[in-house]
Amino acid sequence: MSLNKRPPYSAFAYYYDLLGWSEFTEIVYPYLEQFIRRLPEKPEAFLDLACGTGTLAYRLSEQKIKVLGIDISPEMIEVASSKSHDNGCPPEFQIGDMTALQLNSKFDMAGCFFDSLNHLRSAEEIKKTFRRAHKHLYKGGWFMFDMVTRLGLENWKDYYNSSRDSFYVVQEARFSPSIDRAEVKIEAFINDGRNGTVHIREIFKEISIAVDKACRYLNDAGFTKIIIEPFPPAGSVEKADRIMFYARK
Ligand SMILES: C[S@@+](CC[C@H](N)C(=O)[O-])C[C@H]1O[C@@H](n2cnc3c(N)ncnc32)[C@H](O)[C@@H]1O
Repeated sequence: MSLNKRPPYSAFAYYYDLLGWSEFTEIVYPYLEQFIRRLPEKPEAFLDLACGTGTLAYRLSEQKIKVLGIDISPEMIEVASSKSHDNGCPPEFQIGDMTALQLNSKFDMAGCFFDSLNHLRSAEEIKKTFRRAHKHLYKGGWFMFDMVTRLGLENWKDYYNSSRDSFYVVQEARFSPSIDRAEVKIEAFINDGRNGTVHIREIFKEISIAVDKACRYLNDAGFTKIIIEPFPPAGSVEKADRIMFYARK
């Protein structure tokens, strides 16, 4: 299997929801909603970086929040844009690289969820994304994102499979100290009822940076207040596999 040059999950974009990967949004959403409820004012405009198939964008738009979803994968944006909706405030979607985002608009809040920052290629790209998120927020706006910690990646020694009637997926995720990255291999047989059985394979890598470094980069980007907590919120930050960050401009 050769290393995939396309953005991670591109080959899976059309099956991402069917395979259950949008379910992370259902886990994150109550925390996001709770955070929004505690803000002095509900955000009017939300920027969803690495929006994938747009599940979060549609959830937020049901709350009458105007959402712009950005993703580097044209396939993800195609899937997100093609979803039907019946609310008066449909989200918009745009192909874009969050490390180099340049929009003519600003937002009250930005988000980036489900390991999306871990999918970047270097700490430099994470720094650039923090700067871009900062640039696109109004003063006082919050950037909320999750990141798998280095410990979390090191704990990925798994080989597991999942199946439902319509698919069988084998996934191997392993941290490799020699390259300081986790390598994820996913192989799936999917029957979507239209195309017979589709066979898809992808390999991608995930990086992580130390939590104190991430906080420093956020400060360097201009964020003035940073809150971190393990996600889900239990145990200590030091022992967490995943951290949720809240950074205010
Ligand atoms: C694991 S998916 C998460 C998608 C979505 N946020 C969710 O919660 O389901 C990671 C996403 O990051 C996107 N991505 C990776 N690098 C990116 C970049 N530089 N700019 C924008 N999106 C990127 C991929 O295309 C993919 O949709």
